[in-house]
Amino acid sequence: MNSIAACRSAIESSRAHEDPDYPRFHVAPPVGRLNDPNGLIYKDGTYHVFHQLGPFFPTRKVIYWGHCSSTDLTHWDQHSPALAPDDWYDRNGVYSGGATAVGDNVWLHYTGNVKEEDGSRGSYQCAATTSDFKTFTKLDSNPLIAGPPPGYTAHIRDPFIVEGADSYTMYLGAQREDLTGCVLAYASPDLANWELLGELEVSDPRYQNFGYMWECPNVLTVQDEDSGETFDVLLFSPQGIPAQEDQFRNIFACGYLIGHLRGTAFTPVSDFIELDAGFEFYAPQVFSFPKDSPRPPLLMGWVGNASEDDQPSLHNFGWIHTLSVARELRLRQGRLYQTPLLEATDEDEVGGEGERTSAATPNRLSALSIAGAPLGEEPTEIPELAGERSFVLDLDIVQEGPWQLTLGRPNGPQVVLEFAEGRMTVDRSTTHYPHGNRRTVPLPEVDKLDVKVVHDRSVTEIFVGEGHIAFSMRSYLDPDGFQVTLAGNAKVEKARYVTL
Ligand code: FRU
Repeated sequence: MNSIAACRSAIESSRAHEDPDYPRFHVAPPVGRLNDPNGLIYKDGTYHVFHQLGPFFPTRKVIYWGHCSSTDLTHWDQHSPALAPDDWYDRNGVYSGGATAVGDNVWLHYTGNVKEEDGSRGSYQCAATTSDFKTFTKLDSNPLIAGPPPGYTAHIRDPFIVEGADSYTMYLGAQREDLTGCVLAYASPDLANWELLGELEVSDPRYQNFGYMWECPNVLTVQDEDSGETFDVLLFSPQGIPAQEDQFRNIFACGYLIGHLRGTAFTPVSDFIELDAGFEFYAPQVFSFPKDSPRPPLLMGWVGNASEDDQPSLHNFGWIHTLSVARELRLRQGRLYQTPLLEATDEDEVGGEGERTSAATPNRLSALSIAGAPLGEEPTEIPELAGERSFVLDLDIVQEGPWQLTLGRPNGPQVVLEFAEGRMTVDRSTTHYPHGNRRTVPLPEVDKLDVKVVHDRSVTEIFVGEGHIAFSMRSYLDPDGFQVTLAGNAKVEKARYVTL
């Protein structure tokens, strides 16, 4: 049986969809293990999402590119895997990479991972093309870049392509021979022939020795909404950053530097800011849009961590990990704000006038009966969400003191969000999840707090302060008796929801 057929047969015998924890509107693997989002591209009205897929996990750890698509970022169709580890240069894994449209064709660049016979690692930068998202053809000239340049180890991977005026640039996550992380840049006139430009020189010395490997670089250009000034953003996932107070508490971090990129010189004007304060979030990627699209960047990340694979869904139904929902990114006063984008419509996409919040959240939001209610010591249940396990809840809260929002069955496994003294504490210690119990995040200083909860069976994403904070986690609550309650010293000014 060939590699694609073997993966399909694993998918056909999968029980993932029978799992009451399998998400409804988050991308999850059809079988086995999912990690990074790959090749995110919006083409001809459809969002294509590829992802790292280990269909035989944990028995065999080879990696494919899984593929799904959606026209609204909410309803996903799962397709046959796009790329299989069946060539000498990718035989142990078709690792992460990005998509680039050229006319009717789409190029998928990726890293071929090889465990060489002597135990060393081979990293080969490769490409495949498609014109219909059904047939994917690897280039005869693969590998396009065979191994690292002098001065760097074989940890060189995750190609991200940026289209310039007359050439393309490929950014790769890399490790110097002194075991520090960095980004390498290559240039090409045609996406197939690549020439080394050199290392991306980050002028702030703090980033010379910032972790031992940088994975999954993204380079994007964003306009600051307040000043109108244009900035470049270097988004990457550095490994080996020690925890500092409330920050960098996951196994590996992911975040960004805002600055200016000229050639290969990147001058940061910000500190490294973590993109997501949650228990699980890594290796995010932005969508490739047609060149000169007016749309703000749109990003998805992996709601998972390396080495945290012992989860209830794997033992019971043979699948693990999900992606986040798609998030629009806006730059405001030196920080990226994230807004979940679900049920996008064509009207939203042209980025026209009109209320941005309605364009960036589901279009079917309805008012909740608790709107206008002051809260008290006793929990107030949101009746419309009783028994609903996949929804978006959008609240404006006037905070007068500490208050709490709770998801889950009373006296059962619960996720508790506590807002007090300018901080949000998330406690999931009673859930069925073994990794990580409590996390505290400082909140933006505002009187009225906007809180969006995107909850989908076993995955929860929280956006606070118009997306100033994003907080992702796996939540593993009981399917029965699900409730959402509010309590404390606060007034609910606006409350809307949609079930999905
Ligand atoms: C990040 C990562 C990438 C690599 C892929 C392998 O999670 O380690 O650097 O390409 O996962 O699955």
